Amino acid sequence: MRVRLLGTAAGGGVPQWNCACTACRRARKAGTVRTQDCVAVTGDGRTWYLLNASPDLRAQLVAAPELAPGPGPRQTPVRGVLLCTAELDHTLGLLALREAERITVYGTAAVLGALSGPFPVRDILAAYTSLTWTPIAAGEPITLPGGLTATAVTVGAKRPRYVATPSAGDWVVAWRIADPRTGGVLVYAPCLPAVAGPFRTAVAGARVVVVDGTFLYDDEMARATGGGRTATAMGHLPVSASLRDLATAGARVLYTHLNNTNPLCAPDAPERDTLAAYGAEVAEDGQAINL
Ligand code: MLT
Ligand code: MN
Ligand code: ZN
Repeated sequence: MRVRLLGTAAGGGVPQWNCACTACRRARKAGTVRTQDCVAVTGDGRTWYLLNASPDLRAQLVAAPELAPGPGPRQTPVRGVLLCTAELDHTLGLLALREAERITVYGTAAVLGALSGPFPVRDILAAYTSLTWTPIAAGEPITLPGGLTATAVTVGAKRPRYVATPSAGDWVVAWRIADPRTGGVLVYAPCLPAVAGPFRTAVAGARVVVVDGTFLYDDEMARATGGGRTATAMGHLPVSASLRDLATAGARVLYTHLNNTNPLCAPDAPERDTLAAYGAEVAEDGQAINL
């Protein structure tokens, strides 16, 4: 299995266009851009699947050589999108796929429901292209063309803010992607409220875990901007709380979905030494992983 991290920032990216916090100022000055989280995976090198569709999707696709179209005039190796949530930073990019001729979007009933209700992207896109929308049940593996097996793992129930009516469901999932030919297993969990339950089971036996690094500290928003909710209240387990636990999982651990307030965004941040001491890494845009 080949994995390409197309984007590694939380909603807003780094720098965020309207933010003058220390991390955004630093990124602006250094020219170090981090785009919103999205991953491409393939089992056969020809058939690629995206994990989430970020608002930066078009630029991310154009920047990835293995996702270039051809040899047919409109032949793309991108065959589908597996959604972790219905949040805007994971779904706005679906609108950028309006030129697509054959793409399947996989999501839980709750997620696909949001995309045909409060955020009617399915109806909007129907006027431009005919995408296939495939509901998936958490815990039930699906076989993707190209040889990979994908299983959604429920990790949370926080619905997007634009979904006004409270409704239960598998709003937040991680994806466990397995390559039966190599035995490689990737777990992708950009939104993770706790290291518990089915997530813990999914991580057992994984070679690579790309996981929620939105915030380093629980009170990081208040530290950086003087206000805002805690990481925990936003459904994101801070790195400081997951690091020890994940380090014992036996997998390579990379933190993604970094918020622009996160000190780990800076390449020379002293906080990165603590991660390194636990064998964990900060994911970077464009990074390639084979497993
Ligand atoms: C999240 O990661 O919690 C969401 O993307 C937050 C949001 O955009 O409202
Ligand atoms: Mn997000
Ligand atoms: Zn900022």
